[in-house]
Amino acid sequence: MATAPSPSETPKQRMPKQRVPRQGSPKAALRKQRAAGRRHPLATVALIMVGLVATGGAYALFSSSATAETQTAAQAQLDEGGKLFAANCATCHGMALQGSTQGPSLIGVGAAAVDFQVGSGRMPLAATGAQAEKKPSQFTDEQVAALASYVASKGPGPAIPSSEYLAGTGDAGKGAELFRINCAMCHNVAGAGGALTEGKYAPPLADISAKHIYEAMATGPQSMPVFNDKNISPEDKANIITYLKYLDKTPSPGGFDLGNLGPVSEGLFIWIFGLGGIVAITIWLTARSN
Ligand code: HEC
Ligand code: HEC
Repeated sequence: MATAPSPSETPKQRMPKQRVPRQGSPKAALRKQRAAGRRHPLATVALIMVGLVATGGAYALFSSSATAETQTAAQAQLDEGGKLFAANCATCHGMALQGSTQGPSLIGVGAAAVDFQVGSGRMPLAATGAQAEKKPSQFTDEQVAALASYVASKGPGPAIPSSEYLAGTGDAGKGAELFRINCAMCHNVAGAGGALTEGKYAPPLADISAKHIYEAMATGPQSMPVFNDKNISPEDKANIITYLKYLDKTPSPGGFDLGNLGPVSEGLFIWIFGLGGIVAITIWLTARSN
């Protein structure tokens, strides 16, 4: 039995055997050997394994009950959203979101479109006009969220943006450049808004919440184009938001803003006041010389 050590035996176990001659009495050596033998080298490993399995199991148990809880909460939210939709939206958008002569299909518009449209009071549409009018939202934040998740459950679309893009801590300079290229032709360089064809208009962009700015870009309400993540990345959307928030804080960096209407109003100003002034001076001078 006590021949060559089996391969499973570790050096630690063999050590006392080698030290036997140096430690005097064989009894002491035996005791030592037994003490070493009692705690199997794999005991620590086994203990750690038991600990890991126990905590892992407990965690899995708790987290699965937590997901079950969020699942029932999500289901309750969907039910709530379904009821609100049937009562307030289905007449125009259809019970199955398929659309009708009164409103477009909402399949695949995403939670972001609902959050934008209902959160800004545009929906439910009150009167038929060139464009849905903005008004105070008639739903609570919870109800808007319920409607949004209900519509999103019927077809995937742009999600409500995560808060990391909404802090307004991006690069305002880059945002300004992107805004000039992509948005200024409708909303004006300073975000003052502008008229479009057929009675439509691009609204002024002062004091719009970062979330709604992001959602407007992601969903393209009405005649506004959709800027998906390939056109303008989420980081660049955050830069544009930073620029618009900068404008909110410093409405007119260049003094008297002439309504920020651009070259037309500035040109008109020069025509009327500049040229008018010169004409007046000329008349005055010639009147004096006569
Ligand atoms: C009176 C009819 C009417 C009612 C009621 C109505 N909508 Fe609309 N909805 C429209 C029309 C028309 C449009 C498209 C015109 C526009 O965007 O200005 C629209 C557009 C939308 C859009 C934008 C779709 C897109 O492609 O981006 C969303 C989202 C939306 N509605 C959600 C809702 C929700 C949610 C409700 C209920 C709270 C609702 N609507 C109630 C008529 C209606
Ligand atoms: C083709 C013209 C056009 C372009 C380009 C355009 N928009 Fe718009 N935008 C609109 C119109 C029209 C609306 C109003 C939609 C409505 O009321 O249903 C709008 C609405 C918005 C709103 C919502 C404002 C509010 O009062 O709630 C925001 C924010 C916005 N646009 C941001 C942008 C940004 C940022 C860009 C550039 C990345 C951009 N838009 C490019 C036409 C445009």
